[in-house]
Amino acid sequence: MTIQKVGVLGCGLMGSGIAQVSASAGFDVTVLEADQKFIDKGFASIEKSLAKFAEKPEKSGITPEKAKEVRGRLRGTTRREDLAECDIIIEAIIENVAAKREMFSALDKIARQGAIFASNTSSISITELAASTRRPERFIGLHFFNPVPLMKLVEVVRTISTSDEVFDAGVEFGRKLGKVPVRTSDKTGFIVNRLLVPYLLDAIRAYEEGVGSIEDIDRAMQLGCGYPMGPFTLLDFVGLDTTYYITHVMFEEFKERRFASPPLLKRLVLAGWFGKKSGKGFYDYSDPAKPAAQDSALRGIISEERNSTATHR
Ligand code: CAA
Repeated sequence: MTIQKVGVLGCGLMGSGIAQVSASAGFDVTVLEADQKFIDKGFASIEKSLAKFAEKPEKSGITPEKAKEVRGRLRGTTRREDLAECDIIIEAIIENVAAKREMFSALDKIARQGAIFASNTSSISITELAASTRRPERFIGLHFFNPVPLMKLVEVVRTISTSDEVFDAGVEFGRKLGKVPVRTSDKTGFIVNRLLVPYLLDAIRAYEEGVGSIEDIDRAMQLGCGYPMGPFTLLDFVGLDTTYYITHVMFEEFKERRFASPPLLKRLVLAGWFGKKSGKGFYDYSDPAKPAAQDSALRGIISEERNSTATHR
């Protein structure tokens, strides 16, 4: 099974990263978006990332000439028909089951019969998405990590319907992208989020219980365990809205407290504090070079809720 042409659905944070690593690996890439403005935004972030890599070609392997070639292999479109000739189509649109199913079902009628369909979803069932097509045996999960150009891992997910041939082709494709593929099955959260999400939620609970300040909990996990980011920096980086959504899907699946959202996470999301992307989360990013921990604001929320519960007892 030879893969030459790659289609990417969505040009947001994950889609643009997947498009970038695919073009960097030599594939011709067509990226589908609903509007040209999203393509322009995504391509601008690819441009920025390639420019960063090209500053240190000895380390990244990307010279300014190679960066130019990569750009030449990328094409944006707003027409689904332009994906008709793709050998693999990787979806990275909004985390919404109905939107993903509609997209896959429509593309099933457009894409060539042998094309593999893949979803980058972090929590939605691959089996449910595959069932919206007439090619469930050619459907896999390819779960990348943020920031895609730097993170080495890709989770390759099979369902009960995925054929061995397609699963192996997914693993091989991951390798060709320069990633390290791990094989996993369609259990909500796969490997990484199954372990990462309870850890992040526990950090919030520990904070709610007064175990330490935001910065001290972050520092402790960075310096005590060698993690590149502490849990609150990582939560803000992943997006609190994204994490909150994932907790819902995981709690729904397993009905275990370790996957349930702590009240503080819900409050932050309701307030529109989504983390780095919205300028505020556990840290305030008014000065992006020096994020300021939001202890005073958050401690206020926690103690107000405690007081109001106490008064109503
Ligand atoms: N493109 C190209 N280069 C980039 C880049 C990008 N998008 N972003 C950063 N870089 C480069 C920087 O220029 C820098 O290069 P030099 O070392 O040559 O100067 C290098 O990468 C390191 O960057 P920084 O110095 O800015 O920061 P860092 O050392 O902390 O590394 C990081 C950044 C790789 C993101 C690191 O902090 C890290 O690994 N964090 C954890 C990320 C993580 O856990 N991601 C997974 C989230 S979970 C998920 O995605 C799945 C889900 O379903 C929720």
